Amino acid sequence: MRRFLVAGNWKMNTNRASGQDLAAALAENAPAAEDGVEILVCPPHPYLTTIADKVSGSGVQVGAQDVYFEAGGAFTGEVAVDMLKDVGCEYVIIGHSERRHVIGETDEIINRKVKAAIAGGVKVILCVGELLSDREGGNTESVLDAQMSGGLADISEQDAKELVIAYEPVWAIGTGVTASPEQAESAHEHLRKWVANRYNSTFSDQIRILYGGSVKADNAETLMGQANVDGALVGGASLKPELFVPIIDAARKLASA
Ligand code: PGA
Repeated sequence: MRRFLVAGNWKMNTNRASGQDLAAALAENAPAAEDGVEILVCPPHPYLTTIADKVSGSGVQVGAQDVYFEAGGAFTGEVAVDMLKDVGCEYVIIGHSERRHVIGETDEIINRKVKAAIAGGVKVILCVGELLSDREGGNTESVLDAQMSGGLADISEQDAKELVIAYEPVWAIGTGVTASPEQAESAHEHLRKWVANRYNSTFSDQIRILYGGSVKADNAETLMGQANVDGALVGGASLKPELFVPIIDAARKLASA
């Protein structure tokens, strides 16, 4: 059975003190391994070390929100995979829609980042998702296919083993509008089929596909209860323990059902 992953993407929020408080509250609520739920927080880069210290020894893992594909050198402002590893990051989010649509990252850049992270031993959460105009134009699946093909170009099954996909419809991110469970399930099913076609069905059965986009306590259980949804990538509701812990609890409940 696939293990649920509930990941908090803090984006460009928190400061040192508020991040520490949040991390401490989550560490207290971290499930034991047998709960079948993995918990991850992705703070801004400057706080990675502080937060990693805070959750050390708990069931909460730390990840980064982005990484650069070069190993080191004259790349002002960028952060290398080894640096993330050095400060205790288990995961890195790559290809988030804000990086695609605000910063302008292409599938080619995303692919280079995915390769660098995998080569450096940091697990990847690869985000894909369509714009509202794509959905309204009936192009959701072709957009997802293009992002998957681009992001995973030249990546073998062996290399993709530690990969997690996050389906995040752009129109649902930070908007309070959530994909319906049926919309989410249909996209997840499509993504899983894509993985089966590109790799094989054993692997597609194993790969985890998270849903992201206005996940909240009151919709988490229904969304994560869909057959092909293996957890959540949570933005806004990951910034307060009283909003995030119920999402973790929903995953726990489903995992133990
Ligand atoms: P949201 O963000 O939960 O605030 O919609 C999700 C994300 O961007 O990962």
